[in-house]
Amino acid sequence: MRSSILDEAVRLLLAGRLVAFPSETVYGLGADATNDAAVAGIFAAKGRPRFNPLITHYADAEGAAREVVLDRRAEELAARFWPGPLTLVLPRRRDSRVSLLCSAGLDSLGVRVPRHPLTLDLLRRLDRPLAGPSANPSGRVSPTRAEDVREAFGPAVALVLDGGPCPVGVESTVLDLTEERPRLLRPGAVTRAELEAVLGPLAGANNGGPLKSPGLLKSHYAPGLPVRLNAESVAPDEALLAFGPTPLPGAVATVNLSARGDLLEAATRLFAALRTLDRPSYTAIAVMAIPQEGLGEAINDRLARAAAPRGPAEEP
Ligand code: TXA
Ligand code: MG
Repeated sequence: MRSSILDEAVRLLLAGRLVAFPSETVYGLGADATNDAAVAGIFAAKGRPRFNPLITHYADAEGAAREVVLDRRAEELAARFWPGPLTLVLPRRRDSRVSLLCSAGLDSLGVRVPRHPLTLDLLRRLDRPLAGPSANPSGRVSPTRAEDVREAFGPAVALVLDGGPCPVGVESTVLDLTEERPRLLRPGAVTRAELEAVLGPLAGANNGGPLKSPGLLKSHYAPGLPVRLNAESVAPDEALLAFGPTPLPGAVATVNLSARGDLLEAATRLFAALRTLDRPSYTAIAVMAIPQEGLGEAINDRLARAAAPRGPAEEP
């Protein structure tokens, strides 16, 4: 019974469909993290107004170590708290198979090993990273019961694995280990005191006040080149990020996010395209207008950040 439902879940995930899964914290909206289109489908289903980075889930620390570099601190925390409600933000490996959309274009990736027997079984069978934000539509609270997920998403989710109510009920703690001083990005079920017992004092001392949304930290990806939005023409030394069937002529290099004007396809290509065009031999990246509808809102949000004046890193 369990075995056949998990086989079905793996089949659906490998086919690029969304499968909701239980964890000890909240239900996750799962997709094959190596499949760009499937990951873009998560953002579409959640109606997220911007591309926040997504947590990827693994059966064990060895699985995570294939995609990110675990330093000694990370190994210690993994040994102590995994499986469990702790997400570590670590540098991506160069050869990571995980979609850049999960990193929202950053060089880092959030990884965790959840403590739920059904999902651990799923992860072992899937044998690849599972992207999974909390399975709530954007702006709603995270779901702790399978029926919450079914009710919120209907047919957009191919399968909801029912693992009963989530015992913890608040999301995992998110800890950024990409810098020398570990930083608490989101308080959660593993407490600051538990982490400090292993690591010493964390950065961003936060005495109960709100933490800035991790998606808003300086970490957002900004290309080296200036980015010019809503371009209606291109200078000969500019690169063009095009959208739709008629790319502007004259650019030194062009990447089309979607020749057929498909926003899901555009979302899947966005971060890779920016990286491709970000060459010092060009003067700027000109970006054609993208419709502000559906996933277009998230694409435009990211592009606006990429185009924003570069100040010093924001601090939470
Ligand atoms: O308990 C949980 O963590 C649940 C279960 C399903 O695992 N997942 C969850 O995911 O709450 P989500 O996407 O709703 O929240 C993930 C948080 C976001 O605030 C995101 O910005 C942050 O983690 N995050 C993930 N990867 C990151 C990265 N590379 N850099 C900075 N923040 C990151
Ligand atoms: Mg969430």
